[in-house]
Amino acid sequence: FKQIPFMKAKLLVSTAFLAASVSLSAQKSATITVHADQGKEIIPKEIYGQFAEHLGSCIYGGLWVGENSDIPNIKGYRTDVFNALKELSVPVLRWPGGCFADEYHWMDGIGPKENRPKMVNNNWGGTIEDNSFGTHEFLNLCEMLGCEPYISGNVGSGTVEELAKWVEYMTSDGDSPMANLRRKNGRDKAWKVKYLGVGNESWGCGGSMRPEYYADLYRRYSTYCRNYDGNHLFKIASGASDYDYNWTDVLMNRVGHRMQGLSLHYYTVTGWSGSKGAATQFNKDDYYWTMGKCLEMEDVIKKHCAIMDKYDKDKKIALLLDEWGTWWDEEPGTVRGHLYQQNTLRDAFVASLSLDVFHKYTDRLKMANIAQIVNVLQSMILTKDKDMVLTPTYYVFKMYKVHQDATYLPLDLTCEKMNVRDNRTVPMVSATASKNKNGVIHISLSNVDADNAQEITVNLPDVNAKKAIGEILTSANLTDYNSFEKPNIVKPASFKEVKINKGIMKVKLPAKSIVTLELQ
Ligand code: AHR
Repeated sequence: FKQIPFMKAKLLVSTAFLAASVSLSAQKSATITVHADQGKEIIPKEIYGQFAEHLGSCIYGGLWVGENSDIPNIKGYRTDVFNALKELSVPVLRWPGGCFADEYHWMDGIGPKENRPKMVNNNWGGTIEDNSFGTHEFLNLCEMLGCEPYISGNVGSGTVEELAKWVEYMTSDGDSPMANLRRKNGRDKAWKVKYLGVGNESWGCGGSMRPEYYADLYRRYSTYCRNYDGNHLFKIASGASDYDYNWTDVLMNRVGHRMQGLSLHYYTVTGWSGSKGAATQFNKDDYYWTMGKCLEMEDVIKKHCAIMDKYDKDKKIALLLDEWGTWWDEEPGTVRGHLYQQNTLRDAFVASLSLDVFHKYTDRLKMANIAQIVNVLQSMILTKDKDMVLTPTYYVFKMYKVHQDATYLPLDLTCEKMNVRDNRTVPMVSATASKNKNGVIHISLSNVDADNAQEITVNLPDVNAKKAIGEILTSANLTDYNSFEKPNIVKPASFKEVKINKGIMKVKLPAKSIVTLELQ
């Protein structure tokens, strides 16, 4: 028996008290100061970008059912999904992959549908792809949604000529061979296509290349992707996977200003081999681990930015996080390789925490595309035959859309932190604020704490607001989700627990809740 020194004993007692108070669902507190007079950077709306790949039922059954379907549709696009996406103000949509992009031959997806050849989707379950959704179907959808298209070109198994001709087909308005082919296929006027990805994951499914080799290929391919008739391409080089800083270094060094953007992929995933964990069955430890892995993205973004700063002090080259989100085990009973997963309140927190991080780095980070828009990974929407559900992640995107193109307002935040598995630390509160073009301030707050409410004091010096209105997203359990049988388990409600007095706002955030407030 050893004597416990006094200080250590005191620590043990207070730790025991802390544990007791956690289990009693105590109210915690946090303090935020919003610097409304220090806004500099605009949060580009493209931070709220989406990604649609020919993978599982993302395109077929998700976005597209064809004009002859029994499922209500507008020119072949599902009406329910289309309307839900309209509500989100989707700013940019990346297509056709992902890994699929480097096996896609665009000419197979134009002209009369009955003549379009089929192919095997080797990356995603060996499904037969009939190419009925191709360039016209994609670019027309973007026009209807009012979003920018982001075309991901085939470098891995394609040719320079093929990619060059695709750009000509889409964007040339002259009397050129590809423009005339497009006209023959029913589209007279060229589309405007800004974002062009030159390959995807070229270190992996996009060709298993080394960065030095890819850098040269990028230079060659991008040379022949021309700016036709007032269309200006924003060319994006295939970037690193999460912690691969060497890839970014080599690309910045060898490609430099020949690219307008460099991509990065970061998934909130346990690992690439073995089980990734069930989307809907997890314990609190798993939940906090997920928050820690999600937030580690901030460090990863910072490190890639630091490398880019070394070569590009003026920040002319954008970083684009063109794949991010949660990756869980596929739902039992679904087709292997189709990456269909449910979406709980835990996923909603990954969305809110990620967006809070992205807002901080928009001097360099100019776009982010969550993977993926419908029926794949951390999607906005799930469909089954005629039914559709909106996921908790959808609702975060909807509540946060007020931040699109608004000025980011820096803030200081003090709150409790928790040490979680894998040596990570998770703050219990996350927040972000912005001021829109009309001078209206919005603040989003996430109480990550699974058990305890938070009283948040928000100092608002220089802000003349009398009240705040808002919405809250929460549910009885972190594992709650919206199913086809019960589609309204997790959805936003109006939020009243907020008062402003003399520049200080007090907000009572229930445990595990996400709120967006508008100051009035
Ligand atoms: O989003 C699913 C896949 O994840 C993409 O096709 C690929 O780019 C990444 O590995």
